[in-house]
Amino acid sequence: CGIVGYIGNLDSKEILLKGLEKLEYRGYDSAGIAVMNDNGVQVFKEKGRIADLRNIVDEDVMANTGIGHTRWATHGVPSTGNAHPHQSNSGRFTLVHNGVIENYDILKREYLQGVALKSDTDTEIIVQLIELFVNEGSNTEEAFRKTLTLLKGSYAIALLDAENDETIFVAKNKSPLLVGLGETFNVVASDAMAMLQVTDQYVELMDKEIVIVTKDAVKIQTLNGEEISRDPYTAELDASDIEKGTYPHYMLKEIDEQPLVMRKIIQKYQNENGELTIDQEIVEAMNDADRIYIIAAGTSYHAGLVGKQFIEKIAKIPVEVHISSEFGYNIPLLSEKPLFIFISQSGETADSRAVLVNVKKMGHKALTITNVPGSTLSREADYTLLLHAGPEIAVASTKAYTAQIAVLSILAEVTAKSRGLELDFNLVQELGIVANAMEVLCDAKEEFEDIARKFLSTTRNAFFIGRGIDYYVGLEGALKLKEISYIQAEGFAGGELKHGTIALIENGTPIIALATQESVNLSIRGNVKEVVARGANPCIISMKGLETEEDSFIIPEVNELLTPLISVIPLQLISYFAALHRECDVDKPRNLAKSVTVE
Ligand code: G6P
Repeated sequence: CGIVGYIGNLDSKEILLKGLEKLEYRGYDSAGIAVMNDNGVQVFKEKGRIADLRNIVDEDVMANTGIGHTRWATHGVPSTGNAHPHQSNSGRFTLVHNGVIENYDILKREYLQGVALKSDTDTEIIVQLIELFVNEGSNTEEAFRKTLTLLKGSYAIALLDAENDETIFVAKNKSPLLVGLGETFNVVASDAMAMLQVTDQYVELMDKEIVIVTKDAVKIQTLNGEEISRDPYTAELDASDIEKGTYPHYMLKEIDEQPLVMRKIIQKYQNENGELTIDQEIVEAMNDADRIYIIAAGTSYHAGLVGKQFIEKIAKIPVEVHISSEFGYNIPLLSEKPLFIFISQSGETADSRAVLVNVKKMGHKALTITNVPGSTLSREADYTLLLHAGPEIAVASTKAYTAQIAVLSILAEVTAKSRGLELDFNLVQELGIVANAMEVLCDAKEEFEDIARKFLSTTRNAFFIGRGIDYYVGLEGALKLKEISYIQAEGFAGGELKHGTIALIENGTPIIALATQESVNLSIRGNVKEVVARGANPCIISMKGLETEEDSFIIPEVNELLTPLISVIPLQLISYFAALHRECDVDKPRNLAKSVTVE
């Protein structure tokens, strides 16, 4: 979910709506705004997209203060009733919330027995508690503070009090939230991107802080009332980076940006002698570790699997890769000197952050690899490596995946060199070759559109197979296809399919096989034959030098270890066209959110 708030001299409606449009990647099943003027608070909310909300907002209401929310449902189905803002029963308090209140049921039973609740959400409990405490004699700030001390879980909150139209009350714990500063106004946002339209000056908030925001002041305090002063930083985001330009979809734009991102990464990680370089303290942390634990979710997890190959093969340090939501309660036996690497495009994924908080408590060192400078995971880790991929807006991750892999390869190479290990290739050169190959693939869109039409236009399911590093890319290919086209897709290790899953192969079932690795080329082709014998429709994507006549597409030759950087592009584009042919909403697939800030 994403939240915004504005207090100042201008009419707040348009600023809030524009802000929410920029935050739609965080969830888009329902949305709402509340605006406040002398006549009190007015709430507009609607199921669906911000565009649907826009249609119902009363143009004639003028108000200088307001809050807004775009939702990714956790408690309660997507509906207008469950959409934020939520109001207390008297209508005096109005609130938006991002996060999950874990003890909401207990609080409901303990404090709100006699209160009629209007929604199924954990959020409504917060606003009703505030009203309860005010009714018992507290002022708003005290009631807010008292409520916050009762909450267990994560929250970013913006609260309006209809009896005080000069203040937005704000609080944060675990969920991301920033306050943006202006000359005659101040704003609140889950992400600087939302309010870049009015300011690039932001103040970070820490967990368990409460902020009293007026149009000319921002007062930050701890929950105990201690005042805190903190300097703002400049959000270095280019507003044009977050526009689609002439592209029909962000996803296509972001796929096409990959060659550029590769070149930018090479440049950013090069020193004046043209050698790849990384902060000395990160290299030392890598060398001090006897084992590396990569923690990530979704596409970033798939990049982590490829990263393990690099770090083990190039830098010779053992690596384990873990899904963040599992690691929290299923912690493996740790080595004596572990180093944790968090991979996260957004730097905000709550599942990953929960692990980071835990391992920091255990006294371990952590490195975050992220696309978002200043993100929570970046701030809270000991070290950060940036992806330099520019904002990724489409929910299905593309350029961040290849950027993660490129940065991991650089990390492996620089570490290997620092350990005196001889490499038989020049990574700068090889990444340059990759960037050129990516361009060739991005120019072959028509061919991928044909492949999508031929293999995926009517199918119910699809399987991706590969061996070794191709297997990991297959996992990512299957995820892409599932996310945006809703075709049920699974990635399998080539040799494993016959141990059960082959039962699902029917006449015409598409099998997308990757063949980019010489050592397993014959065996993966053997696996293709096994499924073809059972009626499957094979689409083989091979690398130049390994091709045969039966292949559907041949990717240009790059270093064998770096093939994931380019073999994934056909899979991204095939998924994109499959989704288009099925008339799916490519950039905003159902049920998903780009940045999942709840565990
Ligand atoms: C969400 C997105 C995925 C993404 C995952 C991890 O589920 O829909 O595309 O891979 O989160 O996100 P992160 O920002 O941590 O890489």
